[in-house]
Amino acid sequence: MNPTTKLRVGIDEAIADDLLAGFPDGAEIVRLPSDVAADETRTWEVDFWVPPFYQSVAKRVFARLHGVKVVQSLMAGVDWLMWLPDDVTLCDGRTIHNISTSEWAVAAVLAMMKRLPHYRDRQAEHFWDGQVAWAGGAKDAAAKIETRVKPPLLLVLGDELHGKKVLIVGYGAIGAAIEERLAPFGVAVTRVARSAREGVHAVSELDGLLPIAEIVILILPMTAETRGLMDARRIALLQPGALLVNAARGPVVETDALVAALHEGRISAALDVTDPEPLPPDHALWSAPNCLITPHVAASTGGLLTRGFAFTATQVQRLVDGKPLENIVGKAGY
Ligand code: OXD
Repeated sequence: MNPTTKLRVGIDEAIADDLLAGFPDGAEIVRLPSDVAADETRTWEVDFWVPPFYQSVAKRVFARLHGVKVVQSLMAGVDWLMWLPDDVTLCDGRTIHNISTSEWAVAAVLAMMKRLPHYRDRQAEHFWDGQVAWAGGAKDAAAKIETRVKPPLLLVLGDELHGKKVLIVGYGAIGAAIEERLAPFGVAVTRVARSAREGVHAVSELDGLLPIAEIVILILPMTAETRGLMDARRIALLQPGALLVNAARGPVVETDALVAALHEGRISAALDVTDPEPLPPDHALWSAPNCLITPHVAASTGGLLTRGFAFTATQVQRLVDGKPLENIVGKAGY
């Protein structure tokens, strides 16, 4: 870069100034509208762009930008940015999601173990419901408990995380952060990644591992290989009463097969992501039993923004200093 010209960094106008305090003097922040109307003609010159989180908005804004050389995503996954031109250097938000997404995963698992969605629903009805069997946790798992606890004390009690066999599918930085947070609960974790390494199984071994797991946590990137990974056949491999947690991408799980398994009462699910997204109001998944849904918000915390823009500032500094960028991702495999 010419030392006299500043690097133009395009950032959404909704981002508070204090989040950008760490940007170097060699950068000029170009504030971009949070969305652009289709009929406006205004354009912006920008070298480095931090896209807004929604794909449709990002596409509209990008169409008005000129000169973009680097795109820094604050999302961990970049599958939603595959439409960017090939000559743009794309960097992902790896590591900045470790805390928020792993906390969501632990919260979702505990909420399901302790039946919190069920009790929250009863609370909304003003109904004290401690004596009613939670339809959830699969019929078979409920039946197992019912043989041990006779009426009138027949209740599907809350479950314990302690001692559970947890399978983390997509063992990268977020997967490791999930394991670190689950470890104090005394779980036994099995790790799966694209290829095997010390202590980590290859995804090709998944079929043998699914029937053993009581909790399966999906946290893998969305690629051509992972689309439909949890199809009807693999969902059928899950043991009765298993909890399937999806913090990855909706299409990693075949929605129809999931809805069917939930209706059969075989498994329960906690989903931060769905296919489609947003989930239409009349979609069958909304009312599928034993299913907790959050609208793709697992990572969304104030801390994520702080970490994301602090990391972006270091990326901008690297460019200003003529150093190589971090977190560059290719499009191969997406
Ligand atoms: C991501 C997300 O970072 O979904 O990819 O939050």
